[in-house]
Amino acid sequence: MAYFYFVLTNTDAEPLLKEEISLRYPELRLSYSRPGFLTFKGEKSLDFKPVFARLSGECQGKFKQSELNFPKCWVWKREESLNIPDELKRISDETIYKIGEKVTLVMMIGPDEFWVGNYELKRTHFQTPGEVSSIEEREVPSRAYYKLAEAFEAFDLPFDHQERVLELGSAPGGASLFLLEQDMIVLGVDPADMDKRVTKNINFKHIRRPFETIVADNFKEDVDWIISDINLPPTVVLKEVYRMLTFLNPRGLVLTLKMNQSKHLEVVASVREEFRRRGFKTVELKYLPSHRQEIALIVLRS
Ligand SMILES: C[S@@+](CC[C@H](N)C(=O)[O-])C[C@H]1O[C@@H](n2cnc3c(N)ncnc32)[C@H](O)[C@@H]1O
Repeated sequence: MAYFYFVLTNTDAEPLLKEEISLRYPELRLSYSRPGFLTFKGEKSLDFKPVFARLSGECQGKFKQSELNFPKCWVWKREESLNIPDELKRISDETIYKIGEKVTLVMMIGPDEFWVGNYELKRTHFQTPGEVSSIEEREVPSRAYYKLAEAFEAFDLPFDHQERVLELGSAPGGASLFLLEQDMIVLGVDPADMDKRVTKNINFKHIRRPFETIVADNFKEDVDWIISDINLPPTVVLKEVYRMLTFLNPRGLVLTLKMNQSKHLEVVASVREEFRRRGFKTVELKYLPSHRQEIALIVLRS
């Protein structure tokens, strides 16, 4: 018997996804695909949860429009220019799924091309058709604003007023701006310039240095969170973060790991164990809607 699986991902991440599938699910073969939509075929049922997928699940196959008679479904379209048929759009707009429920996702791939997939709705899903971002676009210093806002929403991160955040690789300041909007106190580490919207806020302090030079003496008080989005290999970032955890005791970390080489996949495989060993209970990886060749690592004490 053949089993089919689908993946929705951002086109920049497709090479990484294919590499991940060949390493973690060697029995699967790429079947039909279009940019941003991939299907895989295997001989047995699998717990299919690739990391470099915005969304993944079982694939029921290609359907004619006349066969799409679902009482409930969500409809996602692959390109903005596609027009979802009126009745399908109405059903999708009216459909609400609860956490734990099996979602029927109609994926509109071309003008008259529909594929159907299923997945179980998790708390960390965005609960939008196709896992697109629900964060409204606005004028911000960088894309990092959305990356952090999406992680905050998906994981319901327990950020609190006046908590202290150490932000590694803070320039130009998208993530700092988001943190300051949450009324947090930000220590931004980056040799590069910060956006004025960030520096004018009294809750922001700029430590204009490489993060490798940060030592215990830089801190009068401990920090509650470590956030990082540094454009260096994940091995380098994680080594420095583990070093900082010898003198800092945050209750959580949100790390964006750049994943532009397949060898970085091996690093990701070891992070759960490394953070659990250091006393963190929650260690999750999530490919967020605004990600390209990167992934969010969410680490919480509880
Ligand atoms: C993707 S950007 C960060 C975006 C930023 N978090 C924001 O919200 O706008 C990567 C940053 O890492 C910084 N960076 C690279 N190497 C660094 C190092 N060794 N120490 C500190 N920052 C570094 C760069 O200067 C750059 O500003």
